[in-house]
Amino acid sequence: MPIKVLSVFGTRPEAIKMAPLVLELANRPEFDSLVCITAQHRQMLDGVLACFGITPDYDLDIMQEGQTLTDITSLVLNRLNDVLREVHPDIVLVHGDTTTAFASALCAFYLQIPVGHVEAGLRTFDRYSPFPEEMNRCLIGRLATCHFAPTVHNAENLKAENIAGDIFVTGNTVIDAMKYTVGDGSFSTPALKNLNFNERRVITLTCHRRENYGEPMENIFRAVRRIADKFNDVSFVYPVHLSPYVRETAKTFLGDTANVILTKPLDAMEMHRLMSKSYFVMTDSGGLQEEAPALGKPVLVLRRETERPEAVEAGTVALAGVDENRIFDLTCKLLTDSVMYNKMAKAVNPYGDGNACRRIADALLFSFGKSSCRPEDFHP
Ligand code: UD1
Ligand code: UDP
Repeated sequence: MPIKVLSVFGTRPEAIKMAPLVLELANRPEFDSLVCITAQHRQMLDGVLACFGITPDYDLDIMQEGQTLTDITSLVLNRLNDVLREVHPDIVLVHGDTTTAFASALCAFYLQIPVGHVEAGLRTFDRYSPFPEEMNRCLIGRLATCHFAPTVHNAENLKAENIAGDIFVTGNTVIDAMKYTVGDGSFSTPALKNLNFNERRVITLTCHRRENYGEPMENIFRAVRRIADKFNDVSFVYPVHLSPYVRETAKTFLGDTANVILTKPLDAMEMHRLMSKSYFVMTDSGGLQEEAPALGKPVLVLRRETERPEAVEAGTVALAGVDENRIFDLTCKLLTDSVMYNKMAKAVNPYGDGNACRRIADALLFSFGKSSCRPEDFHP
């Protein structure tokens, strides 16, 4: 009998990182692979599914405008319960640290269904930052029985917490996803079609995290405005997240700024193309901190801390924080100091080698006693 795997995810980053795993499992006869989306994100999730050609088996369709964490948690718990009772999977796979992932893991636990955690073991050790993600991933760690840690560092975090269950070091599936998304091609987004990447230094900007709402986000946008004013040859491209708070703040602070292009969210292929043609990246996103180093692009992280220290240690990512003057100064330095720029602009891949999905599938076979071969750990 094949192992019945139900992958549950709901937001854009989870979809990008789970898509190559869904495709890997679907290609292997040892698995009966089903997909349930919560649609915590609606448009941004559907875009990713279309990119990867994935049609979900179940759609909980929970998204509401301006949803609260309680809304997401209670809707997922209620609606996933029926799906789990119908499907009876051997294991539920969840990804990362979203509230979809936490509520899905909890729901499976209530029915005593084993949980596999993809992208396990990332920690800042600050319960409120990122919020609520740090707590989500700690709680998922407790609920899960199989942990797929991207790096040795992530696995060490889990061991230090005496986490129960099997820990595998697999690499991050985002590097697998980039095999599908990165390629040559032109832009279909009008503002990007007309942008001359040879004449202008383009900075990809994203900012959406809940703990940055309010003063931190306003500081970031004020710093961006000052940089755009100071450097005539620089253009910012900011694909704005669909969160009403983020859209409103971005429009207020950056809407009429010369050299700042605000766009709708880009599909994953265009986004990766944009990063690969950019001079560098400024972001509070988790995924971008993993993707940009693989593309040889420096990253300034618009947060106080990061759960992804590997690229900081490799020298391609720097923590810029959320203070206006510090962001301004560091960005000016990266734009004017070619020694600093060249040091940061080297392609490094501490997060994966493109084989994470194969390792996770092999690890599942090993865990279910269908193979005696434990997959080798990922090492950069
Ligand atoms: C969520 C995750 C965060 C992740 C981020 C990725 C939680 C608590 N947060 O945060 O970890 O980094 O996704 O982007 O799980 N919206 C739309 N259409 C969409 C998507 C969002 O309109 O396709 C709007 C809705 O009004 C929604 C709001 O954005 O209520 C916020 O979405 P939500 O998923 O609650 O929070 P994110 O900030 O996206
Ligand atoms: N992304 C995208 N289009 C956009 C912005 C981001 O496809 O307009 C991709 C990005 O390349 C990465 C993922 O979405 O793979 C990151 O998602 P996000 O920043 O929303 O969440 P996080 O990684 O911080 O959880």
